[in-house]
Parts: sequence; C-alpha cells; structure tokens
Amino acid sequence: MNLSLTQGLNREMKSSPLGKMSSDPSICCIGAGYVGGPTMAVIARQCPGCQVTVTDVNGDRIAAWNSDELPVYEPGLAEVVSAARGRNLHFTTDIDAAIRGADIIFISVNTPTKQYGVGAGKQADLKFVELSARRIAEAADRDKIVVEKSTLPVKTAEAIGRVLAANTRGHRFQVLSNPEFLAEGTAVRDLLDPDRVLIGGERTPEGERAVARLADVYAQWVPRERILTTSVWSSELSKLAANAILAQRISSINSISAICEATGADIEEVARAVGMDSRIGSKFLKASVGFGGSCFQKDILNLVYLCETFGLREVAEYWEGVVEMNRMQRRRFAARVMRSLFNTAAGKRIAVLGFAFKKDTNDTRESAAIYVCNDLLAEEAQLALYDPRVTAEAIANTLNAGAGSFEVCASPYAAAEGAHAVLVLTEWDEFRGLDFERIYRSMKKPASLFDGRNILDLRALKRLGFEVHGIGRTIETS
Ligand code: UDX
Ligand code: ADP
Repeated sequence: MNLSLTQGLNREMKSSPLGKMSSDPSICCIGAGYVGGPTMAVIARQCPGCQVTVTDVNGDRIAAWNSDELPVYEPGLAEVVSAARGRNLHFTTDIDAAIRGADIIFISVNTPTKQYGVGAGKQADLKFVELSARRIAEAADRDKIVVEKSTLPVKTAEAIGRVLAANTRGHRFQVLSNPEFLAEGTAVRDLLDPDRVLIGGERTPEGERAVARLADVYAQWVPRERILTTSVWSSELSKLAANAILAQRISSINSISAICEATGADIEEVARAVGMDSRIGSKFLKASVGFGGSCFQKDILNLVYLCETFGLREVAEYWEGVVEMNRMQRRRFAARVMRSLFNTAAGKRIAVLGFAFKKDTNDTRESAAIYVCNDLLAEEAQLALYDPRVTAEAIANTLNAGAGSFEVCASPYAAAEGAHAVLVLTEWDEFRGLDFERIYRSMKKPASLFDGRNILDLRALKRLGFEVHGIGRTIETS
C-alpha cells in the first residue's frame, strides 16, 4: 500500500466514527470532575493508542489537572495521571478544539438537583448537559459518537439526540448511554477492574456500530463478558436502579440501628448475622450516620420524579422513604449529641473528626457531616473540625454558622482540646489509631465520644473514661 493511500485511509477512519473502521478513536470528555477526570485518565493509561482530551469551563480545575496538585483526591490517581499526561492524556479549556478533534465525546458535566421551578428539589437540572450538546453540535466538523457518562434521568439521551439533530450543521450523531459505576475513594480500582461496563445504544445498525466502537475501547482492558450492551433506556434506568438499591440497603440497616438503640441489640452483630445469608450478602450493610455523596440522594429523587411523572405514586413513595430514612438518621444523630450535652450546645466546643462523605476522598457533597454540623450550629455550638483531605474553604462553603461558630483545625488533637464531645463522622483509617488517652485528658468532662461510623473500640474507650455512643449499639456500664 503506498503512503498516500494509507494517509487517505487514515483520514477516512478518522472522519467516520460511525462507520465500520476501527482504528483507535480519539476521545474527548466535557467535564473534568470526579467522574470525568479519573475515567479519562484510566482510559488513556489503558489505551495508549487513543488520544484523550479532557476539557472544562473551569480554568482553575484544568490548571490543577495539569499540576501536581490534582483537584480530585483518589488513591492511585496521581500515578495514573502522570503515566499518561502529555503522552495521550491532555487537559484543556479549549472545548471547541477538543470536540473537533474527537471521534467519541463523553459528557461528564454536573447534573445537580434542580432548585427552582417545576420539579424543584427532585428533578435533575440538565442545563449543563444541554449546553454541552449545543456546543458539540456547533463545533463538530464531522460525525461523532456522543456518550452520556454523568448519571442522568431516563430519556436524557433522547433529549441530547434531539438537541444535536436540531442544531447539526449536516453531521450525524449517535448518542450512547455509558453510566459510570465507580465509587469515590476506590475510583481507580473500580475503573481498572469494573464489575461490568454498561453501554446502551439505539437498536439500529448505526447505533450498534457506535456501541461496538465504544465497547472496543473498554475491551482493551475489560473482559468482553463484562461489557453489557442494552437499549439506551435500560442503560439509563439501570444506573438509577443500582444506586437506589445500594442506598436502600444502607437505609434498611440504618432503620434497624434505630431499633437496636431502643432495644439494646447491637447493629454490628445483627448486620453480620443478616449478611451471612448468601442471598443477602454482607456488602453495603454498614450502619452509619447516613449516606452522602453526589449520587445516591440525587438519583433516588430522579427516580421518584420519574415515577410521579408516570403516575406511579406508590412506587415514588416507596423510594422516597429511602431518602427520608437517611434524613432521619442524620437528625437522630445530632439529637443524641444534644441529649449528651444536657440539651444545650450553646457556646460548647464540639470536635468533628471527618467531613468527607466517606474515607479516601476530598468530596463533601451531601456529606452527613454537613447536616449534623448545621444542626449543631443552629444550637449555637462551637465546632472544631478536622479532616485529612477536605480543605478549610470547602468546609466553610457548606456550613451556616448562624449564632454558632466553627474553626478548622490542623490535627484531631487540636480539634479535641477543650471539647465536650468528639464526633467521628468519616471512617478515615487514621482515626482508628488516634491516642484517645491524650484526647480524653484534653477534653472537658464528662467527655462524650460519638462514633458515627462504628470504627472504634467503644468498650476500650469507655474504660478510658469516655461516655461512648455508637450507631445502633449500647455499651454496658460495667
Ligand atoms: C455510589 C455508588 O457506589 C457507585 O456505584 C456510583 O457510581 C456512585 O454512587 P459513591 O457515592 O462514590 O458511589 O460511594 P459509596 O461507596 O457508594 O458510598 C456512598 C455513601 O454511603 C457514603 O456516604 C458511605 O459512607 C455510605 N455507606 C456506604 C454507608 O453508610 N454504609 C455502607 O454500608 C456503604
Ligand atoms: P461529577 O462528580 O459528576 O464528575 P463534578 O461537579 O465533579 O461532577 O464535575 C463536573 C464538571 O463539569 C465541573 O468541573 C464543571 O465545571 C464542568 N462543566 C459543567 N458544565 C460544563 C460545560 N458546559 N462545559 C464544560 N464543562 C462543564
């Protein structure tokens, strides 16, 4: 084959991502957040033949991705980024150029719960998704595969398709749903070794070719039998259903923790006994101060909204109960703290250890800590907070001090100094190994300790002199 013919073929491969050719596609991702950043970094590392460009409207975020201080903390992520960055992984604010250069465009922008108008408090706000679709239609110079990566309400792919079709300048688009199942804190591991990759596409020859094109990318490191292909709607609904069912398990065990506290049963023993039933399984049965994160509540509320839209009132109420139970768990925790402080927190120092919604992430979105802290601030408490990864700025952005106050401390010991109570709200490993004798000595007495994650040896802490409180467990006084 002569050179010019090869070049012509290469051009053709690049110019028809919807066609039969299967060179390594070039990829771009709109949105460089907790999902887009790690996902693209892993694709770039695992697919050295793909050029991967991540783009965002937020210039500071892009600058951080190009620096040694990544905007997202995830174990192992820095290594993955540094292996690929500059080689086939690029971060840029030039969205149009990134769109033009790509065969496959992932949309991974934020989809917060709508705070205004119809559907406020439940429906996902799709304005960033719609803006991205319009931008793609305007900037595209050839046919493209557009992939919805963010968790979105069912039928969003259809809406994206309509925006693209109405604004196209003669190019064709195939819209796929490829929901991300990674959990924060284990994102790199989840991406490298996923339980499954789900790709939903139109049941047409063009749709199937687009699905196959994306499947080929993942197949470079994921076994084929773990790559599931479905219709677009099944894919979109599967993601909502998976998150709703995971959250439902946590609300179920948390509801049982309330009964344990009332009756003296121990939730850890109950969860173990229940989880050993192989039909139930032991995962996601850890009682806690409440689930947080950007997905669970939002996705359930999306599901609720969907049900209401289709007149499925009982189904909507069923799932709304999962969110309500979570709210109750957080409120109940703050109320127990208040009781231990003789129902007055005004002017009292309370140490809060952990602010992230789970360990190994710097993400605070919907963290139970926000709600517990705000309840205590409303009681005019003086909070002293410590988290190993969350910045003081991120904490300050989420709290309403009101007549209370809060300060962010450099260590757990500094936070506990002079406190009436210590609350453990995130299960960071470092909290297990703290010198609690030192903490006890530095606190006001009686010194209360609330373990909102059941990670501490409450019996040993009781022997040190603490008044101890776990989730769903009562420690006898003897
Ligand atoms: C979740 C899903 O797990 C993931 O598949 C999806 O892609 C995004 O949403 P994430 O929110 O990152 O991931 O973390 P996850 O590990 O699911 O934890 C969510 C919350 O539930 C955290 O606040 C965690 O502390 C809490 N949790 C989890 C419990 O309280 N008990 C448990 O047993 C498990
Ligand atoms: P997620 O957890 O879903 O990744 P994040 O909020 O962490 O959500 O990230 C979403 C990113 O998408 C943000 O960095 C935001 O600036 C970016 N973004 C939102 N809208 C657009 C847009 N229209 N074009 C490019 N980037 C966008």
